Amino acid sequence: MNIITFENTPPLPLEPHFKDIKAANYLMQHLINMMEDPIYVETGVSAGRSISFILQKCPSIKRAYGVDFWSENTDTFERSGDTHYSQAHSDRAFLSASNRILSSGHKDKVTLIKEDVAVAVDHFEDNSIDLLFLDHYLNKKDVEECLPMWYNKVKVGGYFAGHDWIYAGVKKSVLNFREQYDIKPLLSVSGGEWVWKKDGNI
Ligand SMILES: C[S@@+](CC[C@H](N)C(=O)[O-])C[C@H]1O[C@@H](n2cnc3c(N)ncnc32)[C@H](O)[C@@H]1O
Repeated sequence: MNIITFENTPPLPLEPHFKDIKAANYLMQHLINMMEDPIYVETGVSAGRSISFILQKCPSIKRAYGVDFWSENTDTFERSGDTHYSQAHSDRAFLSASNRILSSGHKDKVTLIKEDVAVAVDHFEDNSIDLLFLDHYLNKKDVEECLPMWYNKVKVGGYFAGHDWIYAGVKKSVLNFREQYDIKPLLSVSGGEWVWKKDGNI
């Protein structure tokens, strides 16, 4: 497993990592701030805008994990249609993510896992994550596969969340998953974000 931590890397000068209301993971800060020593996991870190924002807004985070393969990929969920990202683009995104983390003021709390989500999931014990934010999926199949793959990694009483509700492939897959496993807790949606509080494993 390709694990990156920043304890031995000098920090960069502190910078504010602000996000606007349309950006991913704008609302989760309130939930995270209500928790004690939360473990936060985000899939799909890209250039690190969301994880660095959450780190600065949520000082109580005990450990933040970011998963991304930073590989060439094609995103079918982009508003403008299928968008291809080259390996060079992903390499630049990784560098930006590292720099944002180093300038967040919270670098020592962060672990990046540079792997496919299907590999990285094995790094986590069942019932170990307080808030999981899924934001890596590039198509409907990715969404369908990741929901059952990651569900039991979140603690009972923790939050299972993600981005891109505006895309039919996300909405349908999440609703089907809830129906398939008879998941009853209230599904809360705001803008692109969706979340519910887990009441049991599948
Ligand atoms: C929409 S971007 C995430 C945006 C990010 N959360 C932010 O703050 O801007 C999606 C990211 O998911 C990653 N990704 C896509 N499929 C993946 C997979 N199967 N495993 C790991 N990472 C993946 C891509 O490399 C890309 O960086």
